[in-house]
Formats: sequence, C-alpha cells, structure tokens
Amino acid sequence: MALWVIVGASRGIGLEMARQLAARGEEVVATARRPSEALAATGAEVVEGVDVSSEEGVQPLATALAGRRVDALVCNAGILKGDTLATLDFDDALAHYNVNALGPLRVVRALLENLGAGSRVGIVTSRVGSLADNASGGNYAYRMSKAAANMAAKNLSIELAGRGIAVAALHPGYVRTDMTQGRGNITADVAARGLIMRMEALNMDNTGTFWHAEGYELPW
Ligand SMILES: NC(=O)c1ccc[n+]([C@@H]2O[C@H](COP(=O)([O-])OP(=O)(O)OC[C@H]3O[C@@H](n4cnc5c(N)ncnc54)[C@H](OP(=O)(O)O)[C@@H]3O)[C@@H](O)[C@H]2O)c1
Repeated sequence: MALWVIVGASRGIGLEMARQLAARGEEVVATARRPSEALAATGAEVVEGVDVSSEEGVQPLATALAGRRVDALVCNAGILKGDTLATLDFDDALAHYNVNALGPLRVVRALLENLGAGSRVGIVTSRVGSLADNASGGNYAYRMSKAAANMAAKNLSIELAGRGIAVAALHPGYVRTDMTQGRGNITADVAARGLIMRMEALNMDNTGTFWHAEGYELPW
C-alpha cells in the first residue's frame, strides 16, 4: 500500500482522486481549507486548514506527515477567474500566481523530507498554460499562472532528479467542476482516473514532462 497525498481535495477533481484511491485501499492523506463532508465520506485521512497561498498555510500538512514517506504527491489546488485584457484585475492575477504557481512549490518544499527515491510528484497545471498550444487567447491571469506552474514542475524535476524523485505537469482534461461552472467534456471521475494512471506511469525516465490525463504528452 502506497501513501498518496492529494492537496486541494474538498471538491472537484481532487475529491474524486481521494475517493478512488481510498476505495481501492490506498493510504490517502487529503487536504481541505475548510471541513468538507464529501471528503470526510471518502475514508481518506483529512488534514484541514491547508491553504497553499502561504507558507504557514501548508504547515498543518507537514506536521501531519512528519516522519512518513510519501510515495505520490498530487498538487491539485487551483483557482480560475476568467478575464480579458480589458477586464484583467492585477490583484487577481497576483492571487492566481500565488495559488497556482507558488502553491505547488510551497507544498513540495514543505514535504521535501517526506519524499525520497521512487516518490512521484504530480503538479496539476493545465494545457492552457502551454505556450505552444495556445490558439484561443484570453484568461491572462490563469494562463500565465499555469505556464509558471509548468516551469515549476520542470525545474523541480531537474533539482530532484539526484534524489530519484520524478515530477510531471499534468492536465486533467476539460472537466465539469465548479471551476468550469459545470462545463467540460468529461466528469471529475474520468479525469481523476486518468490522473491516477499518469501518476502511476511517472518514473525517472519520463520525469520533467507534461501529460494529458488521457495519456499523451503535451507541448510546453
Ligand atoms: N476543471 C477543468 O476543466 C480543469 C482544466 C485544467 C486544469 N484544471 C486544474 O485542476 C485542478 C482542480 O480543478 P477543479 O476543476 O477540480 O476545480 P475546483 O472544483 O474549483 O476545485 C479546486 C480545489 O482547489 C482548492 N483550492 C483553491 N484555492 C486553494 C488554496 N489557496 N489552498 C488550498 N486549496 C485551494 C479548492 O478548495 P476550496 O473548496 O477550499 O476552495 C478545491 O478543493 C486545478 O488546479 C485546476 O486549475 C482544471
């Protein structure tokens, strides 16, 4: 049995990952900012009060995991507020960068002692953070924060390679959750299944890559 840690699991894709992993008997530690009845019902070990927007905010997770080896860490917490050049609010843009790009780095740094050879880290970014794939524009705050999150994933893969820790950027698909206001092509259940498979396929040969949950590599 492996220890999986899912950060940002109160609802949506993170909740579904926690549910599926707990249901198949994995040891799952899942975080929420506030109590989530849905998460409690999964049977995962829940750490509440985890907010990736500050270093103090990730401390409860480090405390709960002290001395425990983490086999798979999924940094899933994220925010999206749509914008155009005309409507972009710069404070919102900074909030996106703080949560979506710096959040995963805060989590990984706080849990460095828990990770070791064979551990896997998945950062849930988005294909809209891809420069090469951008054909539609818009969403400046979100796109730019996810592009930075992609760089964080790549950079981490390089820094952590010497310790045998594999890191990937992962895109879940266009998923019907609160974030997309229920729009999307797939359910959180399907996205979670794909992300879990990508995490299981992650190793030191493919570390530092960017994957669609459906199983193909995405361009940066
Ligand atoms: N849905 C899509 O189509 C799609 C596509 C590409 C990428 N993604 C990415 O997939 C991830 C999950 O998205 P989702 O669709 O499941 O969104 P969601 O339903 O809005 O859920 C977002 C999750 O992130 C948590 N979160 C937000 N800010 C946080 C913070 N400061 N600290 C800790 N947790 C925080 C939320 O917790 P609270 O309940 O406390 O707010 C919630 O658990 C995100 O990173 C998103 O960018 C989604």
